[in-house]
Amino acid sequence: MSNKKLTTSAGAPVPNNQKSLTAGKRGPVLLQDYQLIEKLAHQNRERIPERVVHAKGWGALGTFTVTNDITKYTQAKIFSQVGKKTEMLARFSTVAGESGAADTERDVRGFSLKFYTEEGNWDMVGNNTPVFFVRDGWKFPDFIRTQKRHPKTNLRSPEAMWDFWSQVPESLHQVTILMSDRGIPTTPMHMNGYGSHTYSFWNHDEERFWVKFHFKTQQGHEFYTNEEAADIIGKTREKYQEELFGAIEEGNFPKWKMMVQVMPEQDAEKTPYNPFDVTKVWPHGDYPLIEVGEVELNKNPDNYYQYVENAAYSPSNKVPGIGFSLDKMLQARVFSYADAHRYRLGTHYEALPANAPKSEVNHYHKDGPMRFFDNNSDNPDAYYEPNTKNGPTEVPSVEEPPLSINGDINRYEDQDQIGDFKQVGDLFRLFDEDQKERLFQNIALAIDGVSDHIVERQLKHFYAADPAYGAGVENAIREHKVSNPDPNSNVIPSEVQ
Ligand code: HEM
Repeated sequence: MSNKKLTTSAGAPVPNNQKSLTAGKRGPVLLQDYQLIEKLAHQNRERIPERVVHAKGWGALGTFTVTNDITKYTQAKIFSQVGKKTEMLARFSTVAGESGAADTERDVRGFSLKFYTEEGNWDMVGNNTPVFFVRDGWKFPDFIRTQKRHPKTNLRSPEAMWDFWSQVPESLHQVTILMSDRGIPTTPMHMNGYGSHTYSFWNHDEERFWVKFHFKTQQGHEFYTNEEAADIIGKTREKYQEELFGAIEEGNFPKWKMMVQVMPEQDAEKTPYNPFDVTKVWPHGDYPLIEVGEVELNKNPDNYYQYVENAAYSPSNKVPGIGFSLDKMLQARVFSYADAHRYRLGTHYEALPANAPKSEVNHYHKDGPMRFFDNNSDNPDAYYEPNTKNGPTEVPSVEEPPLSINGDINRYEDQDQIGDFKQVGDLFRLFDEDQKERLFQNIALAIDGVSDHIVERQLKHFYAADPAYGAGVENAIREHKVSNPDPNSNVIPSEVQ
């Protein structure tokens, strides 16, 4: 028997934790049994809203170590010295499924890293893909709606997905990656991470560089085919949690190399592609990968809820030396995440253990629900700003260098010289024959049952990327229909046969 006393949350010893207080042996329960009420009421408050996207996730604590000097590009203190270590928290996720979704579903994976730097938290909220489905935040809620459940059937809807994608050709790059082997990594350890957007660095000389972040798995890439994934899901829905948690418990710590592509500020005017378009990559031949450091995950949190569910990642969490860019999607995200956290976790979400910076925090936000931390000031008179009471003051030295912008306010088409299909074709041609065949089959399966006019429109995009891509998908769709005749399913339209 433990010698620890059970207490109420107000600290009073609890006499009995087994039985309700009743009026008589078989009598009704008394309202004065406040611990019973407390227990039931607390249970009713155990769930918070799941993330609107990326609800299913797996996470761990770790360390980032600098292995190469990049101080000529950025003054960010996290990179100030080779060998420097920074504590961090990682969370991986699928995008569309709910918090109970099976881990090995075909989907993009989220790849979020929170670095507790000496100048505040830096969050890298990326995916396991270098690009995204849409290039403008305006389209994001609609895109996500196509990934979630249909309002009437409450089922996921391939019709909605392909209806959207086929009318948004910029999505083809990401759709191709999703339908390729990268669409079902075997574990979170066996995939790369990407910041995806273009961010910026600025150095001590006030020079700005555009930058893309890459996290290269040191475990190697591994993937499941659709059949293997279905088999796994039949056995366990929690494969990733088992693998990641298990590896770390065994001391088999997963690692990623952090690399960057760096573009001098003025180059952005010259590239044939828009370097701020998140549906595009920067060719490595033009901007080679530069090593930065190593991410190692080495500790499972003692409390999953406290560290993984309560983790609030946001692209707006940046530190001096790292900045945003002109990427329209990124601009929308800079708003959206903190707003989501205030709704999902509450006003003071940043004071929760997963999110609390390990550096000094001094601000003038006051009060509100769950204000459980003090004012961080030894001077209670300094509760407004400006003040002459020795309160915290701004730090002009960390102001970002100015960025010149010109042009008219408008809603722009945003087409660059290369368009939506060139990089998709380049990617397709990198696949070997087996990879291409799996890509065709995965698409044929995913598009099965979708209306003719949508399939037709989408096929044109595959053909535009590469005629062999279009022909491969079209053949696979036809073969799929022959081997799986379904009287309710649609036939291939004659114009594209
Ligand atoms: C999660 C919005 C685009 C990666 C979320 C969440 C929101 C959101 C509201 C839930 C946050 C929470 O409750 O904690 C948006 C909007 C986007 C966008 C408005 C476009 C305008 C992207 C892109 C990426 C991305 C382009 C990757 C490059 C993620 C990841 C998470 C997430 C990884 C999960 C974070 C975690 O692990 O807690 N997004 N998102 N999102 N988003 Fe986005």
